[in-house]
Amino acid sequence: GDVFTYDPGFTSTASCDSTITFIDGDKGELLYRGYPIDQLAEKSHFLEVCYLLLYGELPSAAELEDFESRVTNHTMVHEQMSKFFSGFRRDAHPMAIITGVMGAMSAFYHDSTDVNDPWQREVAAIRMIAKVPTISAMAYKYSIGQPFVYPKNDLDYASNFLRMCFAVPAEDYVVNPILSRAMDRIFTLHADHEQNASTSTVRLAGSSGANPFACIAAGIACLWGPAHGGANQACLEMLREIGSVENIPEYVARAKDKDDPFRLMGFGHRVYKNFDPRAKVMKESADEVLGLLGIENNETLKVAKELERIALEDPYFVEKKLYPNVDFYSGIILEAMGFPTSMFTPIFALSRTVGWISQWKEMLGDPGQKIGRPRQLYLGDTARDYTDVESR
Ligand code: CMC
Repeated sequence: GDVFTYDPGFTSTASCDSTITFIDGDKGELLYRGYPIDQLAEKSHFLEVCYLLLYGELPSAAELEDFESRVTNHTMVHEQMSKFFSGFRRDAHPMAIITGVMGAMSAFYHDSTDVNDPWQREVAAIRMIAKVPTISAMAYKYSIGQPFVYPKNDLDYASNFLRMCFAVPAEDYVVNPILSRAMDRIFTLHADHEQNASTSTVRLAGSSGANPFACIAAGIACLWGPAHGGANQACLEMLREIGSVENIPEYVARAKDKDDPFRLMGFGHRVYKNFDPRAKVMKESADEVLGLLGIENNETLKVAKELERIALEDPYFVEKKLYPNVDFYSGIILEAMGFPTSMFTPIFALSRTVGWISQWKEMLGDPGQKIGRPRQLYLGDTARDYTDVESR
């Protein structure tokens, strides 16, 4: 028969070539189009990073202005979309809503179905980046029973999102610039991460020529799991459950116990066998934001830092090269901003949309592109004859 390699979990299979993101897991290095993530997090901002991921180069001032205005002009969603939200249970998880609504967008943009047209691919990418904050904020508002807040396009991307989440109609809402900067940095740190599970899902879905909104919905669905994007929610819930530093050893012991399914959330990574460079920036940002907000004595942050210290000295974590990942500190910042844990993974999805769509565009622009079609190692029965129900 056919000869192929067996690689469950794709731990050693490259599924594509790409020029977008580079990770050196041993060094703990992450580059977007060659630029180190810490430099981008410090000096750039999210829409500039979006441009970089999509087009391969940092924009000139004029290019950036044009890109920002194109994104800004697409932030509204069709008024009919609001009907989709009201079909969900009032307490639905925002990830469930966003998965459904993003998929439904494929019905609003039939022109995007023409994935062979580079112009349509370009328009789909802009629409997606522009609308995903609006959809995510609507999912949040719906889940807490508040009216939707429309985008306000004289605000920057992060401020607009915060306003759509936290403004209430009868009151003035002024975006705190500290929070807006921290929000923008969280978007940047999550923007892309090469061929992780959700990105591979988007590529696989897109490889059949499916509508891009449907492909991104598939990526959002994949991201939801606690081994992937859902870890940020799970991590903060774990830190709260630990509650205070005295309880840490008990949880560390549980994480090491092979008979206990408990894992330290926000720890470990398939590719990083060293510090996740995003976690380093996130930790600094958590200190900065909580300090500026005057809540640096936050108990959760104390538990997180002590847990990190203990785990990094423990032979189990040292031998297995388990370090804090991007999800370890992000939740502390998001909580300080006022987000409930159910919004943590939607914010990851919002940020990662640019990565997914950049990877999708790269794939479809490749003349050698083929439908993704993994093989399997069949372990079932060999051919046998059907038996009638009476004789079974
Ligand atoms: N706590 C305790 N033990 C762990 C942990 C952890 N967080 N992560 C891995 N291990 C152990 C695991 O039990 C295994 O031990 P052994 O070799 O004795 O069986 C070994 O380390 C290797 O783990 P693995 O599950 O084979 O590694 P993987 O590459 O398949 O999984 C991972 C990577 C991220 C799913 C895993 O480390 C994990 O479940 N971490 C917790 C969830 C998490 O934080 N996920 C976010 C990842 S980063 C952002 C994102 O991708 O969304």
